[in-house]
Amino acid sequence: MAEDVKEGLEGVVVAESELSYIDGDIGKLVYRGYAIEELAEDATYEEVLYLLWHGSLPTAGELDNFTAAMAEERDIDDYVLESLTELAAVDETPMAALRTAVSMLSAGDEEPGADPQDQAAALRKGRRITAKVPTILAAYQRLRDGEEPLEPRPALSHSGNFLYMLTGEEPDEVAEETLDMALTLHADHGLNASTFTSIVIASTLSDMYAAVTGGVGALSGPLHGGANQDVMETLIEVDRSEKDPVEWAQDALEEGRKIPGFGHRVYNVKDPRAVILEEKSRDLGDVSGEGKWYEYANKIENYLIEEEGFDEKGLAPNVDFYSGTVYYQLGIPVDMFTPIFAMSRVGGWVAHVLEQTEDNRIMRPRAKYTGEQDAEWVPIDER
Ligand SMILES: CC(C)(COP(=O)(O)OP(=O)(O)OC[C@H]1O[C@@H](n2cnc3c(N)ncnc32)[C@H](O)[C@@H]1OP(=O)(O)O)[C@@H](O)C(=O)NCCC(=O)NCCS
Repeated sequence: MAEDVKEGLEGVVVAESELSYIDGDIGKLVYRGYAIEELAEDATYEEVLYLLWHGSLPTAGELDNFTAAMAEERDIDDYVLESLTELAAVDETPMAALRTAVSMLSAGDEEPGADPQDQAAALRKGRRITAKVPTILAAYQRLRDGEEPLEPRPALSHSGNFLYMLTGEEPDEVAEETLDMALTLHADHGLNASTFTSIVIASTLSDMYAAVTGGVGALSGPLHGGANQDVMETLIEVDRSEKDPVEWAQDALEEGRKIPGFGHRVYNVKDPRAVILEEKSRDLGDVSGEGKWYEYANKIENYLIEEEGFDEKGLAPNVDFYSGTVYYQLGIPVDMFTPIFAMSRVGGWVAHVLEQTEDNRIMRPRAKYTGEQDAEWVPIDER
């Protein structure tokens, strides 16, 4: 059997999906047929979750019921809070704390032992996890700051409540809408590494908690979700170095560094989510007085495209290039950026797990063996 290795599974199609479509040559992204630009402008994150999980846009009544059901599930058990307290004491990273906490949630699930192929039960589990992730993250941030975690407020939206639990103050409309839009933009993106991880786990008929925990782990790396934190740290480095951003980019390339927030396996042009976040970052700068972050990022982008020919190599800003500057201007700590990505993408993981289990076959690729064939066994005392 011929064994062509597809490194990084590039171009390999392993599943059919009705969830999101990406055209990487023209920079197009849709969720269930709806353009990302339209969803970012008009839909709430809760509406997007409904669309992804239930297959169609909700009516007003359906959305009210769904939002209320989500809000009811926000509380986390004391045993999770106690563990978060211990993790904060040893300075665990927020993504690792989230990974641990999501795994622990299964112990408090109301339907232990439900068949993972029971779609209705799996959806309820997914909804519980999605509703609790912001509570976990906000509690963890407050514990790290030596503050008491706050109880969720059910009357607030998913994003508004997260910002309230994080800061202790109900957010203004701009902050709430901005975060809500960022959550919409990150909710789903085909079979990216973390979503693929989740469906591989689900394909063994493991449960929703295992699949989402794996997704968090895969998202945490700098080649995937971790890039948004790297971008912001880069911009802070530019600021501290007092170099012009262009000079910084020239030096970084000379040192052989990859520019975080640039490049994508699927997009050869600018990611449509980056286009939206860029605009948001620029507008926020006018309000926050922190416009320099947008300017640094924009100067680096223009230099890489116009002078270094990045676009000719199919390298352009991805979703992470401008998201960090948006979160930073909302006053969110830098190492919470990737967890916020997780807070959104959990919706996509759940949707893909449901799709996978609906028509499941275990994921089981092969490796081309390049090792020895007939090695001779040597007893331990003769090695
Ligand atoms: C996203 C990413 C992992 C895609 O990986 P990939 O499809 O395997 O592409 P590769 O890493 O093989 O890159 C292909 C070429 O482009 C270059 N390249 C890719 N991303 C680059 C970047 N951000 N800066 C500079 N060069 C880059 C690589 O060095 C490689 O060049 P070569 O062919 O001369 O060796 C990669 O572009 C990257 O590491 N980007 C930075 C991290 C990031 O922003 N991740 C978030 C993605 S949403």
